[in-house]
Amino acid sequence: MPMILYSFLEQYDLSGKTIVPFITSGASGFSGTIGTMQELQPGANVVENGYSITRNRMEEAPAGVAAWLKELGYLN
Ligand SMILES: Cc1cc2nc3c(=O)[nH]c(=O)nc-3n(C[C@H](O)[C@H](O)[C@H](O)COP(=O)(O)O)c2cc1C
Repeated sequence: MPMILYSFLEQYDLSGKTIVPFITSGASGFSGTIGTMQELQPGANVVENGYSITRNRMEEAPAGVAAWLKELGYLN
């Protein structure tokens, strides 16, 4: 997880909030990011089914994001 996110998650209390992670990457995907978010924000609901796409598949992102949001119930 990038340092800027460590700083943000250490500085703010997101208890009671829902965190919906989505990322681009070269190849690493989420790695340990979702677990780290859960550790840093124990009072928050961190959605484990985040959206991850690699930079060389960006053309799939619009359809992929829409399908993912439907899966989560955020889109009809
Ligand atoms: C300093 C730096 C470190 C990066 N480290 C990783 C990495 O460890 N794993 C990975 O999958 N991608 C890594 N990347 C690739 C970027 O995360 C990837 O290019 C980005 O998600 C695509 O979004 P962009 O168009 O904003 O660059 C790194 C990029 C930079 C600039």
